Amino acid sequence: MSAADTTAFGVYVHWPFCLSKCPYCDFNSHVRHAAIDEDRFARAFAREIATTAERTPGRTVSSIFLGGGTPSLMKPATVGAILEAIGKHWSVTRDVEVTLEANPTSVEATRFHGYRAAGVNRVSLGVQSLDDAQLKALGRMHSAREALDAVAIARKAFDRYSFDLIYARPNQTIDAWQDELKLAIAEAAEHLSLYQLTIEADTPFAGLHASGKLVIPDEDHARALYDATQELCSAHGLPAYEISNHARPGAECRHNLVYWRGDEYAGIGPGAHGRIDSDGVRRATATEKRPETWLMRVEQLGHGVITDDELTREERADEYLLMGLRLREGIDPTRYRVLAGRGLDQDRIELLREEGAITVDNDGRLRVTQQGFPVLDAVVADLAA
Ligand SMILES: C[S@@+](CC[C@H](N)C(=O)[O-])C[C@H]1O[C@@H](n2cnc3c(N)ncnc32)[C@H](O)[C@@H]1O
Ligand code: SF4
Repeated sequence: MSAADTTAFGVYVHWPFCLSKCPYCDFNSHVRHAAIDEDRFARAFAREIATTAERTPGRTVSSIFLGGGTPSLMKPATVGAILEAIGKHWSVTRDVEVTLEANPTSVEATRFHGYRAAGVNRVSLGVQSLDDAQLKALGRMHSAREALDAVAIARKAFDRYSFDLIYARPNQTIDAWQDELKLAIAEAAEHLSLYQLTIEADTPFAGLHASGKLVIPDEDHARALYDATQELCSAHGLPAYEISNHARPGAECRHNLVYWRGDEYAGIGPGAHGRIDSDGVRRATATEKRPETWLMRVEQLGHGVITDDELTREERADEYLLMGLRLREGIDPTRYRVLAGRGLDQDRIELLREEGAITVDNDGRLRVTQQGFPVLDAVVADLAA
């Protein structure tokens, strides 16, 4: 993996619908009981792609990510229309990575072959757990068997696939997690995303948590679960390349690296965020979140952008720290200096190094240690101060 990939340009496309709302999730996802007019949405996606490409001329797309919500609810023809529009309005690298997020509830072999024919070459499955009781507690609509069947379908249809698990769940013991993770590793090919359960504001889990009905692991237990995760994955050739993402070397998700390395990306669809450079300045864009309102805006204006802010040097440099320190490869202090117009505070670096939270390597890069990752927010806050 090279940290010097400066030409990366990603396109994120958000499909905002799900079959049901999971009680822990605060992503921009909506349940609709009436049929969704996919053709109308496909036309709107194509229109917003055209408008966004006009303000980013000369870029070559190196990765596309169809995220959600549940993009595997889209017909292959809708995915095809989106990818065609991207290819029409931007140049695309020959080896472009095209990922689609899929929920095991909506995985069918025929659909997956359709996605592949449309140009998708990588899938990311939301498995979440391989234990039926835990899946039920997470409010998932699928069983462990269905999740494994979906993984098998993904394996047959795609050379590259990944799946997500959520751990640090209520009452989860180290032993139980190790057993589940071993099973996951045996099913994984090159990539796994392993997220600790977070309690997001305004979700049903937040209410249960506040009333004491849902208890998540305390700091020490969460750290022990994290350490067990790192140990097991590393021993099986899937080391973390980011705080929650594990891959065989060379199989990292290139699209997500775009975010973490501070490269440019366009955000398409309801509630999508983008980072676009214009006249030497980085701009942070965001579109309207409500799907139907986004649709109408695009039909009227050609885009659904409601936020389009210039980032100050300071903001851009802080973002570089915040995102870059999530990566095992860490950050380049020289790049920080160029972005911020000032260097990082050497005394703070020294202190964090003494505490064992970061290392400064021979190549000059600053990296968070395994010990530092569970307190990453505090490390970033300290360095950015
Ligand atoms: C937005 S979802 C999209 C995937 C797909 N909709 C699904 O659920 O199968 C992306 C991933 O975020 C993770 N996620 C969402 N909310 C989370 C939370 N509160 N804590 C930890 N992980 C979470 C889940 O692992 C999920 O697979
Ligand atoms: S299916 Fe995925 S995006 Fe939809 S509510 Fe559940 S976790 Fe969120």
